[in-house]
Amino acid sequence: MADFKIAPSISSADFAILGPEVDNVLKSGADIVHFDVMDNHYVPNLTIGPLVCDALRKHGVTAEIDVHLMVKPVDRIIPDFAAAGASYITFHPEASEHIDRTLQMIRELGCKSGLVFNPATPLDCLKHVLDKVDVILLMSVNPGFGGQSFIPETLNKLREARKIIDDSGFDIRLEIDGGVKVDNIREIAEAGADMFVAGSAIFNAKNDKDANVYDTVIKQMRDELAKA
Ligand code: DX5
Ligand code: ZN
Repeated sequence: MADFKIAPSISSADFAILGPEVDNVLKSGADIVHFDVMDNHYVPNLTIGPLVCDALRKHGVTAEIDVHLMVKPVDRIIPDFAAAGASYITFHPEASEHIDRTLQMIRELGCKSGLVFNPATPLDCLKHVLDKVDVILLMSVNPGFGGQSFIPETLNKLREARKIIDDSGFDIRLEIDGGVKVDNIREIAEAGADMFVAGSAIFNAKNDKDANVYDTVIKQMRDELAKA
């Protein structure tokens, strides 16, 4: 079986108790913390920045933190996230004037680098920078909000991205973000993804009788992935 990674998006967590929320979801078997950064400029919403990433590290989180930048411009803020303990830093090509330079900067700061493609953005700009990306992230919703529905055309785009990665011979993860649920994760994996962001599907699964229901939904996702 492929090495699948589940990355809960903490934008759907309870921010008033973020440290315990992250602890719980990792204890429940999540692999990576997906950290959505929105600036009310590149996307119409505002979330969290490097201070919160740093706070999670100081709280004791040792898992990889996958910083998804939905900000424009990107270069000024990248060193702050590297210093705050980011593992991956990904950005949207539309948000950088010099994509190659930004990718190099992320790696020089010791982080894994990646490009994020909106639903309507073609994969063209990957061609000449494949040696500089560690992850390709396909948005299966338009960025800005959790809880939206998976756009089915993304399955075709995943197949296209999977072929680009396999033909390149580079070790590149293929991440999917938006509308990932227990009932579609298997077909998403079969289309080529190996890293799965899920926000509302995981964090909205709680109920007050059971403080740690994340176990259940993450296990259901793994069971579905085992069939892929
Ligand atoms: C959207 C964010 C996503 C999102 C995922 O702009 O990048 O990470 O919060 O949430 P769900 O899984 O609820 O679609
Ligand atoms: Zn995201």
